[in-house]
Amino acid sequence: MKGLILSGGKGTRLRPITHTRAKQLLPVANKPILFYGLEAMAKAGITDVGIVVGDTREEIQAAVGDGSAFGVKVTYVHQKEPLGLAHAIKVSRPYLEEDPFVMYLGDNLIRDGIRTYVDEFRSDTGHCHILLAKVQTPQEFGVAELEDGRVTRLVEKPMEPKSDLALVGVYMFNNDIHDAIDHIKPSARNELEITDAIQYLVDQGDEVRSKIINGWWKDTGKLEDILEANRVILSGLKGKIEAEIGEDTRVEGPVSIGKGTRVWNSVLRGPLIIGGDCRIEEAFIGPFTSIHNGAEIRNSEIQHSIILENSSIVDIGSRIESSLVGKNSEIRTASGPPKSMRFMIGDYSRIEVC
Ligand code: DAU
Repeated sequence: MKGLILSGGKGTRLRPITHTRAKQLLPVANKPILFYGLEAMAKAGITDVGIVVGDTREEIQAAVGDGSAFGVKVTYVHQKEPLGLAHAIKVSRPYLEEDPFVMYLGDNLIRDGIRTYVDEFRSDTGHCHILLAKVQTPQEFGVAELEDGRVTRLVEKPMEPKSDLALVGVYMFNNDIHDAIDHIKPSARNELEITDAIQYLVDQGDEVRSKIINGWWKDTGKLEDILEANRVILSGLKGKIEAEIGEDTRVEGPVSIGKGTRVWNSVLRGPLIIGGDCRIEEAFIGPFTSIHNGAEIRNSEIQHSIILENSSIVDIGSRIESSLVGKNSEIRTASGPPKSMRFMIGDYSRIEVC
């Protein structure tokens, strides 16, 4: 069985961060989201993994390499334009051949992995398997309708959803899916939708098996989702401190700190993770915070946030929370008069001041 991770597409809902970085490489607890998918594949015993890449392919290839760091062998498939999830399978056909496969959306995070689902599919590859989860906003997802436990209808982002069961971004297919994809037409948003291809299977009388998952799952498409993912992953953190910490610093709860980081006169209240080569001084770093390599936090307070590499937060009077700060950014109190706020912010940025 093969794996196919979809890591093309455009991260419009996470701009401006995704102007300069593939959305699948945004770190959650200091690890790119895509890596969780690769690890899930390896844990499920899938070692032959294709990654569909688009405009950000160089960055993704540089981060993942040949896959050996994850215990898998990676083949890259270039999708020139993000024309839909079913289109991504279509361009991957030479790689997939006639093998059954697991498709995993590269921006999805499933805390407990996919092993159980893959094992069930292995003993039942005659059918397509999908995973469903109850959600509060089904109109943002592909939605499944069931009758007596059988899938009868799938609709992509319906305005008036008939159920609260969203399609989770993990699908298991045999080679029947290729014929289904050949029979569907692009949707109103000009994408070949995987929901339409699965609906075609249902209409042909093929059994599409579904499983409602209970564990935590997230499509990390939006800021709130990334922050929630960060909170959930950090909740399971086992602290490890490899850094120099002054005696004037108080550490509470699980805290991880990488090599080369220096901490003075601060309070670190876990769960939180700080990367390597950071400088933390006179700071309060609160729970559910991830601070990436090379960042500087001085005379400031921050919690429930993600700070990317080499950014600095200095002399900020109020506590920062629920924030995502891009790499090489600077937030500091303005020096000298006039007493005013000064910004240099990129397109599509969002700043809330009090
Ligand atoms: O997260 C679950 C949802 O994912 C499902 O409920 C929906 O039925 C499914 O269509 C999908 O919806 P999204 O709108 O969230 O998909 P998105 O465009 O964000 O793409 C998901 C991943 O696939 C992302 O890593 C980008 C990648 N992708 C996307 C497209 C459209 C590709 O590699 N190629 C593409 O053509």
